[in-house]
Amino acid sequence: MSFPIHRPRRLRMNKVVRKMVRETCLSPADFIYPLFVTSGKGVRKKISTMPGCFQMSADEIVKEAQSAHRLGIPGIILFGIPEHKDEKGTEAYNPKGVVQMAVRAIKDKIPDLVVITDVCMCEYMSHGHCGIVKKGQILNDPTLELLAKEALSHAKAGADMVAPSDMMDGRVAVIRDILDANGFDDIPIMSYAAKYASAFYSPFREAAESTPQFGDRRSYQMDPANRREAIKEVALDIEEGADIVMVKPAMSYMDIISDVKDTFDVPVAAYNVSGEYSMVKAAAKLGWIDEMRIVMEILTSIKRAGADLILTYHAVDAAKELWK
Ligand code: PBG
Repeated sequence: MSFPIHRPRRLRMNKVVRKMVRETCLSPADFIYPLFVTSGKGVRKKISTMPGCFQMSADEIVKEAQSAHRLGIPGIILFGIPEHKDEKGTEAYNPKGVVQMAVRAIKDKIPDLVVITDVCMCEYMSHGHCGIVKKGQILNDPTLELLAKEALSHAKAGADMVAPSDMMDGRVAVIRDILDANGFDDIPIMSYAAKYASAFYSPFREAAESTPQFGDRRSYQMDPANRREAIKEVALDIEEGADIVMVKPAMSYMDIISDVKDTFDVPVAAYNVSGEYSMVKAAAKLGWIDEMRIVMEILTSIKRAGADLILTYHAVDAAKELWK
């Protein structure tokens, strides 16, 4: 393997040759587009921490989902911002809740778009934690029942897939159970299997109005310092019935994406989270970076690391870029 016999630059000589030997090609089909649904009609409210993202009412979500669908993006994931929050997260499993209504509206207009729902309690709880709180503790087992009810109500509304993001132990199993018991055995579960307690979520918490009112999420989300533990979390979720497993965040966790891809045979999703998105937007606004080149490089790297699916707020912009 030595020069001058080997000259790797031969295969970089022009655009066409580079394309012939390219190892990773992004496609709009790789993306899942996250959307924030709120109540009302005609609502399209800017999210200040995430330029280009909006809280939208169901009718506006339908329009946004339609443009994503036309660009070849196969799926969206919905987050709900309920009108009312309480200590039991009642709105999470209200058949007329914001997510449930949006799912119905989207499936009615765009039946072949895959509508995924985020299953978590934090947006619906007055204290902003992902589970039931007692004496300052986030309780695991009592929360499972609420998550199961929430997932079932999403499925009843017509969701094509549910995605639990709470990090309670055992939630995939209870969700699989309740779905099967109610005739939804064909609804896949995409679990946020290796979800880290990350500072990269802060812009999202304004978007979803889900900032914890006390403490943080470190007693349920993973320690960013841990790599082997991700394998354990993913193995448990697959054992419990997860069909797709997710690593979250993506950019600082590419080693984890790669480990998960190498270790398991199920599709791997990666979540290019709000902080990763907003940093790009901020630097682009200041004129420090070329936004679209950076976005395409980030998304390509996430796929190269092993992600089969990428949840990203850049989905529509990136899909447009890919069609150019
Ligand atoms: C809900 C949830 C969060 C995100 C997705 N689902 C926030 C959190 O765990 O605090 C983060 C998404 C993002 O930052 O883009 N638990």
